Order: sequence, then C-alpha cells, then structure tokens
Amino acid sequence: MINIRNGTLFVKENDFLTFSQIFYILFGYGCIDVLRVILRMAREFKNFIDGRWRDAVGGKRFENRNPANWDELIGTFPDSRAEDIDLAVKSAAAAYESWRLTPAPRRGEIIRRAGDLLVQYKEEIAREMTREMGKVLLETRGDVQEGIDTAYYAATEGRRLFGFTAPSELPNKFNMSIRLPIGVAGVITPWNFPMAIPTWKIFPALVCGNTVVFKPAEDTPATAVRLVEILLEAGLPDKVIQLVNGNGPSAGMPLVEHPGVKLISFTGSTQVGKLISATASKDLKRVSLELGGKNAQIVMPDADLDLALEGVLWGAFGTAGQRCTATSRLILHEAIHDKFLAMLIKRVEKIRLGNGLEPTAEVGPVINQKQLDKVLSYIGVGKDEGAKLETGGERYTDGACRNGFFIRPTIFSQVDPEMRIAKEEIFGPVLAVIKVGSLDAAIRVLNNTKYGLSSSLYTRDVNAAFKAIRDLEAGITYINGPTIGAEAHMPFGGVKETGNGHREGGWPVYEFFTEIKTVFVDYSGKLQRAQIDNQ
Ligand code: NAI
Ligand code: MG
Repeated sequence: MINIRNGTLFVKENDFLTFSQIFYILFGYGCIDVLRVILRMAREFKNFIDGRWRDAVGGKRFENRNPANWDELIGTFPDSRAEDIDLAVKSAAAAYESWRLTPAPRRGEIIRRAGDLLVQYKEEIAREMTREMGKVLLETRGDVQEGIDTAYYAATEGRRLFGFTAPSELPNKFNMSIRLPIGVAGVITPWNFPMAIPTWKIFPALVCGNTVVFKPAEDTPATAVRLVEILLEAGLPDKVIQLVNGNGPSAGMPLVEHPGVKLISFTGSTQVGKLISATASKDLKRVSLELGGKNAQIVMPDADLDLALEGVLWGAFGTAGQRCTATSRLILHEAIHDKFLAMLIKRVEKIRLGNGLEPTAEVGPVINQKQLDKVLSYIGVGKDEGAKLETGGERYTDGACRNGFFIRPTIFSQVDPEMRIAKEEIFGPVLAVIKVGSLDAAIRVLNNTKYGLSSSLYTRDVNAAFKAIRDLEAGITYINGPTIGAEAHMPFGGVKETGNGHREGGWPVYEFFTEIKTVFVDYSGKLQRAQIDNQ
C-alpha cells in the first residue's frame, strides 16, 4: 500500500514497488505531489466546495505550522472570504433537497463507513494531528477514537430518531410527533480537538438529514481536510459536505450571517460565542454554543490521595491544559492541603515536555504564539495578584523545544478565590490551588466563576458525593475521576457562560439538529373540534 499525504510518502514495510505501482504514484497522485515529497515542499491544501477541491476565489492562502517546531511548515490553505462561503452555502442548499429524502438509516450507514475508515487510518491521522496541533500521540489517537465512537453511535441513531405518539382527546384521531431535518448547518470548530469536535457536530447533523458547511479552526485545517476526504470515501454525496478554510472574522462570520444557513453549531471562546449568538439571533437561527470553562477538582480528606493525584495530573496538564474541560483549579481541604501539594509538585516537576511524536514526551506545546503570550501573561497576573508560584512559570526552550511554544507545567498555591487566575479561563498548563475548610466552602469556591462546564470531587463519602452532584454548578460532574473524559453517547456541555443550554454527544444533539413536526390524522370522517366538541 502506498499513500501520499501532507508531504510524506508512506510505503508499507516489505512492499516492493512494482512498475504498476510506480505508474500509479506518478499519475494517480500526480507528478507534482511526488516532486513535492522529494523536495519536501509543503502541500497546498484546498477547500471542498460544490463537489470539487478548489482554491479560494480571491486566491489568497494562509500557512499552517507545527507548534512544536515553528520552522516546520505543514501546508498552506485557502484564506476564504464571504464569496467562498456563498458558493458553499448555495451548493449545500441545493444538495439538501435530495439528502433530506435519503432514509436516515441509509445516511447512518455512510457515517458507519466513515467510522470504519477512521479506524483504518487512525495512526496516520493521529501523527498528522500531532504535527499540526502539538498534543502527544497518545492523545491524538484518543481524539481520532472519539471520532470513531461518535460515528458508530451516530450510525445507530439513524435507526432511531424517535418522535412519539400519544392518545388523542378526540375519537378516531391519531397524534404523533416526527423529526425532520432543518437545512444547511454551519459548523465552526476550535483547534484543541481537531477530529473529535468536528465529528460531534457533523456526524449527527448529516444523520439527521442536514447538509453541512464546515469552517474548521485555522490552526488545525489539515485534520479537517482529512475528515472531509474520509466522508467522501465513505460514500457521502459530494455536495452534502462543504469545507471552507479561513479565519474567524473573514470566513466564520459570513457563514453565521448567510441567510441560507439555518443553524449554527460552534465550539470556541465565550467571547466569539456571544458574537455569534447575537448575529444569528437577528435571523432567529438555531445556535448551539460550547464555550469556555474554569473547571475544578475538589479533594476531601477521606479521598484516595494517590488516585486524586493521578486525576489532577491528567486533568490539568494533559493537552497542555488546552481542553475546555481542563482542570484549572485544585480545591484542597486544609487537612490534606500541604501533603497533597507536596506530592503534586514532586510529580509535576518530572513531567517531560517535547514534540508529541517523541515516545518520551508527556506534554506538548501550546498551539501558537498568541496562546503562548496569553498563558505567560496570566502567569504574570498570578504573580502580581500575590499567589505563590510553586513550580514552572516560564517558557521552556531546551534542545529540540527551542522553536516550539512550550510552557513548563505551572502551579500556583495560596490562590484566593477572587483572583483572576481563579476565575478566568487560561487554557494552558497552569493550575491554581485553593485551600478550603469544608465541603460547603469547596462547593462555593468551585461555583465562584462565570463558567460551568466540568467539575470533580474525590471522596469516599457517598453523602458528600450526592450533595456535590446536586449543588455543583456544572454541566458535568465526576466523582473520583478527573474533570476530563467525555464519552460519545453521553451529553456534553455546560451551564452559565459555558453555553446556551444545548448539549453535544448523546441523544440531545439529535434534538438540536432536527425540527419537530406534530401530526394529527383524523379518521372519523367528520369535523372534530378540539376543546369544543369534547368540553
Ligand atoms: P476562537 O473562539 O477565536 O476560535 C474558535 C473558532 O471560531 C475558530 O474556528 C475561529 O476561526 C472561529 N472564529 C473566531 N472568530 C470568529 C468570528 N468573529 N466569527 C465566526 N467565527 C469565528 O478561539 P481561539 O482564538 O482559537 O482561542 C482563544 C481562546 O478561546 C483560548 O485561549 C481559550 O481560552 C478559548 N477557547 C476555548 C475552547 C474550548 O473548547 N472551550 C476552544 C478554543 C478556544
Ligand atoms: Mg498549526
């Protein structure tokens, strides 16, 4: 098997290049691609609009680089504008007319095949994703796995999409509600889960019978191209998915504003989420928002401290803290505060930073210069506010990391719940430790932020656990688990400024992507008047 992707030639071990294979390489992939591999030139990626791969109308391009080594150019991508969005939306609207009539179980079968292809290409996609996004291979494999799980779950929902029936208040009359697709869905995604988050949105949207215009994050467009290639290979009719690359204001906003787009599914910052919500509401579009978080883990004195330690290490520093569910605050009961903090610092100082493709690396870089600056500036804020910097607190540039955006895992102790580092989303490897005297105080502190995504409590006390389940202001609560770990078939989302009440994952997302129609069939043969004839 031979495969050329992103400037790399994959030849499976022990394969001989036969004449026909050489012919296939040269003419199947095109001489240009082969030359590019030989010369190690970056690939020129394209949009997928109206059934074909093409450049932006304006011809402009933007670069995608490796955050672990900024010298490494992965590829260039079309820098699209409103005119590209317009072409994509019109084509998706035309494709909707036949896609909505394709039986939902058939639509589900295509998504199942996409899941099979994700299984087949998992390793290759994970490696490409690590190159463009930075997180370690273990995690990019997990990111693809979430796409696989989402595909198989979505495929089965194609055989459900339940409405309901209920008795009528009148004789010889039948009542039911059914689910119908809505139209063109605009999907705008962030860079921290380049495969998982797009599949959370796109697979259910398609199974429900909508067509999709996809505007991925400008930091991780290569994974997005791969997802669209896979959907096409799985047999998705080619105008049902449209891919438009570009920046938020110039490509994302025209998608939100376009009158042909009926619903928007967005994951990203709260700031942009509010802008999207305000814009889309002018046309009463349906909008699903998954926004920021300031998640906390509480550790009580009766907890299994070793388990709680593993939890916070994974929750706070996995993905270099760039998860919407990352553990950003650690709330420790005073009885175990000093002991637990010492255990934690010892372990954190051993975390190995590095290029995510290196087997020894445990934590990769942050995504780009802007994010590096933002996280370092929050570290400055923490110091200025009087928190105690226990470890980390600076950029890491040793050896091969010198051209990457690495930040040493950072812990602040003596954090007051009113400090900015205790309330604002940092989105980096920075943990704020807060001491409390009781469970009630811990819950109060955890709730003391405008966000409400994920929360965690380590305790062996069942009464404490159920009180926390009831009182923590968060869309997700883990008992004896870290703040991260979504599962494809469970609802995912938050309260307060983390979102607008919708959920991804699980059944609720199928409600978001469908419209309900209520149907009354009167087989009495006469006019029956509800509320009149049965008074
Ligand atoms: P962002 O919210 O600017 O970008 C997310 C997506 O929205 C990208 O596809 C982007 O192109 C698009 N976008 C940006 N501005 C837009 C606009 N005006 N109209 C339409 N679409 C727009 O997030 P960014 O700049 O990547 O990261 C900034 C901060 O946002 C992070 O430091 C973090 O705090 C937060 N964030 C949170 C995420 C989460 O999962 N909760 C994910 C990504 C970012
Ligand atoms: Mg990049």
